[in-house]
This record gives sequence, C-alpha cells and structure tokens, in this order.
Amino acid sequence: MQIKLTTPLDMHLHLRDEDMLKIVAPLSAKSFSGAIIMPNLVPPVSTKDEVIAYRQRIIEAIGDNKIELYMTLFFKSTYTYEFLQSIKDEITAIKLYPAGITTNSEGGVSGFDIDELKETLNAMSKLNIPLCIHGETNGFVMDREAQFVPIYEKLALAFPDLKIIMEHITTKESVEALDKFDNLYATITIHHLLITLDDVAGGMLAPHLFCKPIAKRPEDRDALQKVALSAHPKVMFGSDSAPHPQDAKESSHCSAGVFTAPIALQLLARLFETNGSSFDNLQKFVSDNAKNIYGVNPKEQTITLSKTPFTVPQNYGKVVPMYAGETISWSLVD
Ligand code: NCD
Ligand code: ZN
Repeated sequence: MQIKLTTPLDMHLHLRDEDMLKIVAPLSAKSFSGAIIMPNLVPPVSTKDEVIAYRQRIIEAIGDNKIELYMTLFFKSTYTYEFLQSIKDEITAIKLYPAGITTNSEGGVSGFDIDELKETLNAMSKLNIPLCIHGETNGFVMDREAQFVPIYEKLALAFPDLKIIMEHITTKESVEALDKFDNLYATITIHHLLITLDDVAGGMLAPHLFCKPIAKRPEDRDALQKVALSAHPKVMFGSDSAPHPQDAKESSHCSAGVFTAPIALQLLARLFETNGSSFDNLQKFVSDNAKNIYGVNPKEQTITLSKTPFTVPQNYGKVVPMYAGETISWSLVD
C-alpha cells in the first residue's frame, strides 16, 4: 500500500546551527515541504540581520532538497511597531518562551504582565504576525501546561485579533481551550500523540523521550489523538523535533528534546492507519490546516509513503532519533 501526501508541513522545528544544522536540516527537507523554524539559538534570533543570516545558513545546509523556510523571531517585549514593520516580510511568526522554561529560553518573558507585553502584542496584532507560545509555568512539572491555560485565555481575550498558537500541546486542558476562543490554535507533536510519562520514566529511564513539555497521562494523549485524528481545523502538525548530541541526552543532566524529524511522517501514517482514521484527515493535519491557519502557500510537492518496514537508524551523526533501532511499518519512498 502507498499513500501520497501533498506538501507536508512541520509547523514547529528546531534546526540548530553549525554541525548539527548540517546533520538535521537535510533530513527535514527530505520529508517536509515547509517548516516553521524555531529561534532558540544561542544567542536567540532577535534581529533582522540574524533572521536573514540564519535562513541563509539553513539553505546552505540543505543543499538540493527544497523546503520552504518560515522563519521566526525570539519574542521580546521591547520590540516596537516600527521594528516589527521593518522585519515583517522576513518572518512568519514570533515565538514566546517563558524565561528559563526549556532549552535556550533564558532571555524569555517573566510574569506575563499584560501591560508589559501590550505594545509588542498590539503591534503584532495590527501587522498580522502570529504569536507562538511555549505554554508552561514554572510549577510542578506535570501541571505546568494546565496552569498556563488561564494565561492563554487571558491573552486571547486581551488581543482578539492576534493569532495565538499553543505550541506542542500535551494536555486535555489545552485541547478544551481551543474551542473557547476563535484566535487560539495549536500544534501537536508525533511523540505526544504516541507516548505518555510511562514511556519516559515508567520503566528504565528513556532519555531520548525526555522533552518539554513532558509527556503526560493516557487521558491527555487520548484528547490529543482525538483532535489530531479527526483533523480538527485548529490543530496542525508541529514535530518539535529538537536534536541534542548523544552525550547531552545520555547524561546526568539530560537535555530536553526528542529528535523525530526523519521518522515523523512514517509514524503519522502508522498512527492514522492503526486508528482507522482516514488519510484525508492526515493530509489536513499535516498540511491543509496549517496553510489555512497561517495563510501560507508553499510550493506544491508530493511525498509518497509505502507500507514497507523501516528500521530506524541507531543515530544520524551525533544524534539519536526516537525509536532508534526499532522497526516501524511505514517508509518514505524517495
Ligand atoms: C526544545 C529544544 O531543545 O530546543 N526542547 C524540547 O524539549 N522540546 C525546546 C522546546 O520546544 O521546548
Ligand atoms: Zn520546540
């Protein structure tokens, strides 16, 4: 059996820089026709020159395979209307991180005081620049996302014309918030559709499944599956593929991030097939919804997948992928 996906998009992707960029960028370009590129480099991408230069480094790392690059800027409450107007054509969205919540987020926002954020958020709203948020408080690790939902709701109410994307949602509380506000949308990863905390820490510790937000309870995963498999129009695929070197993952201080870029489409095909959901819904989840939500129009490409077993490599250079060494039932057709 074969299926064809038109213009699959990864709406949340970490490509890093330098050696790592050279390893991972071509792998995303092999599967995806477009991707939202996260700005959490060291230092974070926060000027026009940095966006332009980073885009150029990505293009060089990818070589022949084409992928539409949707660049983002690291949110700062000091961005003015004039600055955003001058950078608007170079970016697709701005990514907001709570300070210190995840990898390279130290320069993020503390406190979520609307007064402090409002000049920048009003400017984004007027300029129609979507806001992507890593929605976690610094509370107890399993509760961080649910505790953030009231902040999402406060922002959605205060800035009704601002498109707000709840990134990599992991809880039923976030799923419920989607239908309450017209301007709230979400990305969902493949790993959060497949695993729970049990897979990370229920047996021997699985560092390659450790990420932020941490995988949650079975009922949370069920809620995510329900909206993804039915292709709810306000959700879209975003892998949050986040590579770290093997020694940073297999360490006493394991870095957060799951590397899924080279296996994401194969796992999505398997998930939709095994749940009896249609491949039309997969097409919506992995492309059409994102095009509608972001209003982007990437060049059409077709990617073929076949139901042929694929053994996931132990590593891609210095990075270990999710499910390394395991065999999955779907492959990419070159
Ligand atoms: C991401 C990373 O490593 O950049 N890590 C992760 O666990 N998801 C950052 C992020 O999206 O939180
Ligand atoms: Zn991320």
